[in-house]
Amino acid sequence: MADFTPRIFSGIKPSGDLHLGNYLGAIRRFVPLQNDYACIFGVVDMHAITVWQDPADLKRGTLEIAAAYLAAGIDPKKHIVMNQSQVHEHAELGWIFSCIARMGWMSRMTQYKDKVGKDAEKHSLGLFAYPALMAADILVYKATHVPVGEDQKQHLELTRDIAGKFNHDFAARLKELGLGEEFFPLTEPIIAGPATRVMSLKDGKRKMSKSEPSELSTIYLMDDADAIAKKIKKAKTDPEPLPSEAKGLDDRPEAKNLVEIYAALAEKPVEAVLAEFGGQGFGAFKPALADLAVETLAPMAGEMRRWMDDKGAIEAVLRDGAERSRAIAEPVLQDVKRIIGFVS
Ligand code: TRP
Repeated sequence: MADFTPRIFSGIKPSGDLHLGNYLGAIRRFVPLQNDYACIFGVVDMHAITVWQDPADLKRGTLEIAAAYLAAGIDPKKHIVMNQSQVHEHAELGWIFSCIARMGWMSRMTQYKDKVGKDAEKHSLGLFAYPALMAADILVYKATHVPVGEDQKQHLELTRDIAGKFNHDFAARLKELGLGEEFFPLTEPIIAGPATRVMSLKDGKRKMSKSEPSELSTIYLMDDADAIAKKIKKAKTDPEPLPSEAKGLDDRPEAKNLVEIYAALAEKPVEAVLAEFGGQGFGAFKPALADLAVETLAPMAGEMRRWMDDKGAIEAVLRDGAERSRAIAEPVLQDVKRIIGFVS
């Protein structure tokens, strides 16, 4: 591989309130990566509008994700916290990638297929092109690594396919311009383990999300202590006591989810949680989980609220982030334009 700076890009869409799954599966995992990589964390609002977003909600959601990055301990001076739509290079490279990616590749994206079902006609063109824009988010910075959940693995493969096809299609041109053989890196995912995939509190087989039918399925980062305790108390379970070993959780998706949430919040292996609670019923486990969740999430929520009370400060971070993002992205896009043969 050519010599690329070890760099991370990851993004979260402002398309609803942030929940426990976003925190344990994404935001909290981003924090330690700051030690080993140059990091760019984006609020990807252009991805959010692939489906309808109320303008006021979109704006608030964007600030809330930025606040969550900052509250969780992302350092916006050493690294970058940015808002996708403020850096036009994403959109420009996104279009170019729409001309590199093949219809066949895009048609195989399972997330798209699951989302539209049999009803593609009334969805936006942007929703179909979504993964090409995602590839642009990553490659406009020549990011080498992307921390994502299991569900985004296929989009990362597509990102590599696009990079590979670009490098290949323009091989002669790259040589002519003295730009080496590999213009774009083949970006690697950093995939979270299963314990960071948080499931709905009402259905252990569905991912926790803001689109769950029941209000009680999802713990939001801005929930207060009472709401968190109530949702955990009402979470679906089964009548059996907890097992003492992890394999006893197979075929018990709801029990497994609650134990995994406990383990993730406590930063302990599942085995350690079961060593403590094995043989006990949910009557004992749920209050312990509720206490732990409140205790762990309260400082984060408090810090987020402090940022949200000073929106000007968040906007200043985003403006600075956009400027520093552009300093990296602009020369990359200039090279791309030269490679393609755009007149400058
Ligand atoms: N598709 C990602 C998701 O739904 C969000 C995203 C957009 C992203 N661009 C990205 C993630 C670039 C990582 C890197 O979660």
